Amino acid sequence: MLRNANDYFIDQPGADTRKLHLLNADGLAGWLSAAPATQRRWVSDSGFEARRDRILGLPGDNGKMAAMLAGLGDQQPCLRSIAAIAASVPPGDYELADNHEEAETLALGWALGQYRFDRYRADEQGARRLAWPAGVDRERVLNAVAADALVRDLVNTPASDMGPAELEAAALKVAGEFGAEWRVVNGNALLEQNLPAIHAVGRASVREPRLIDLRWGDEKLPGLTLVGKGVCFDSGGLDIKPAAGMRYMKKDMGGAAHVLGLARMIMAAGLQVHLRVLIPAVENSIAGNAYRPGDVITTRKGLTVEIGNTDAEGRMVLCDALALADEESPELIIDMATLTGAARVALGPELPAMFCADDALADQLSRAAASSEDPLWHMPLWQPYDSDLSSTVADVNHIAPNPFAGAIYGALFLQRFVRLQTRWVHLDVYAWNGKSRPGRPEGGEAQSIRALFALLEERYQS
Ligand code: BES
Ligand code: MN
Ligand code: ZN
Repeated sequence: MLRNANDYFIDQPGADTRKLHLLNADGLAGWLSAAPATQRRWVSDSGFEARRDRILGLPGDNGKMAAMLAGLGDQQPCLRSIAAIAASVPPGDYELADNHEEAETLALGWALGQYRFDRYRADEQGARRLAWPAGVDRERVLNAVAADALVRDLVNTPASDMGPAELEAAALKVAGEFGAEWRVVNGNALLEQNLPAIHAVGRASVREPRLIDLRWGDEKLPGLTLVGKGVCFDSGGLDIKPAAGMRYMKKDMGGAAHVLGLARMIMAAGLQVHLRVLIPAVENSIAGNAYRPGDVITTRKGLTVEIGNTDAEGRMVLCDALALADEESPELIIDMATLTGAARVALGPELPAMFCADDALADQLSRAAASSEDPLWHMPLWQPYDSDLSSTVADVNHIAPNPFAGAIYGALFLQRFVRLQTRWVHLDVYAWNGKSRPGRPEGGEAQSIRALFALLEERYQS
């Protein structure tokens, strides 16, 4: 199990540390021209080219591997490329042969690329350790690595071991590590505390629905509230999903996992905020007491919602949590959710859809995303579509009557539950790698939390 700094990094290069050369075509030509004839011969006999996903070990005099050449294609070294390299070189110790301006990004990618989910079977892979490049903020790197692993572990854990209670335990563990306060509203108490939409979605499961509510930091500091969709399994409810659509719905608590990872980064860095984390944790199940299509639910905010489809459960649990968040008027509310398949149709699996009514804030986040190599895409809260959410029996229908723009409708529905609309950011994430690629194993993926952290760091660093 790789979890500690010592699994990924060494302080100083030692006698057995291999020099790692990150090479695009120009870089390889330059390296060859300076290399001794025996090494030039070895490289040409091996047929090595500086293409992506190509690596070549070079022996030293004693037969040990002394250096490693790694191809970059036509790219510069970046987080993704070094993550792939870290996942493919043989176990052992390495040091970057050259100085890189983006050394911190490279160190981060090195560790992220080696993530593995080993809860249910031993991981035989040895560690690949990198000598810390000079001038890197080691703690910042390790905090990002820990957050990433937390998100992926939570998403990868199957629903049988990650129900609402286990998600609560995971949240309280993070709270405990940083001395955060917490409160959990469970089962029927959700009705007493006026969180009826969370109760309605979760009540059909034998595993009680709940709202997890964490707080950390001085109350006088600016309020930052994170809200994460914690649907531990999404069967679709009575509007049951077909098999292919249900197969990976253990990941439907991905938003909750993401906000816990982000909260961890915020607390570890000691950002100057009063942090609140709200996670509605439920299982969208089928039973005699399940909520039904056509039901009308009076939500926390008082808005009545007609249920168009029980599979649009995420926006229901989020609407109560967002209304609760909004009541104390924090400076910023960020929600993260595996909310719609439509966001994936629009942008594919790798680009989270970001919605924010404040263009300046959205631009700042987009810039933070680019500099963190953690991409996302700004999508419109297109108001002319809002009227499509009208209902003939309730204040609002929670789905639109057409198959278009599903991610926008989801966002527009949520928008109705926040008053301070320019202080709200909504992220529709996939939280998943559908296939394994070097440095990106199939399974849970953390998206946008480094981008969000970079934004929050700009705003709230001590
Ligand atoms: N959790 C799903 C959305 C989802 C599905 C995200 C697949 C990522 C991959 C969500 O609860 C859902 O089922 N949404 C429906 C909404 C529809 C009924 C309006 C959808 O996207 O089809
Ligand atoms: Mn659903
Ligand atoms: Zn869902």
